[in-house]
Amino acid sequence: MLLRVGSCVLALATPAFAGLDLHDYDDDLMRDLDRTIKVFEPDITAQNAAAAKEDAAILLEGFRYTEDYFGKKGVADAVAISRDGSRLVDAVLRNVDKGDFDAAATAARDAPQLCKSCHDLYKPRLGR
Ligand code: HEC
Repeated sequence: MLLRVGSCVLALATPAFAGLDLHDYDDDLMRDLDRTIKVFEPDITAQNAAAAKEDAAILLEGFRYTEDYFGKKGVADAVAISRDGSRLVDAVLRNVDKGDFDAAATAARDAPQLCKSCHDLYKPRLGR
């Protein structure tokens, strides 16, 4: 497993993400995700397949980005959360394609929780 060396002092004051260097993290993409997640379920509920697919593509790009990013840093649980996200978006897309908007909306409702579980672990809660 990964040994965190050299962050002992910081680790006293900060939680799990201590030692995680996020300087090259794509915050713009995150803000796109934030805009998208707000309209994702409403677009599905409105049975707007075209908009829902556009949203899904952006979210998928986001989860693939975080999978890749945290994969390179060896953060296994963030990778797992990202994969769950991609699977969830795939499930939504399959249901939208079938015209089953109820099932798609049910799946979409779980998406924000995945964003949150990664943020709880790895997003610094410092005012910026
Ligand atoms: C696997 C981890 C992970 C997932 C999944 C994830 N995020 Fe993030 N997100 C982060 C981290 C880490 C940061 C902090 C980046 C930094 O401090 O530079 C962040 C930052 C953000 C920010 C703040 C960007 C800013 O302006 O500084 C927003 C908004 C955001 N995420 C939205 C989302 C949404 C919406 C989703 C789900 C669709 C999502 N994120 C999924 C890890 C994740």
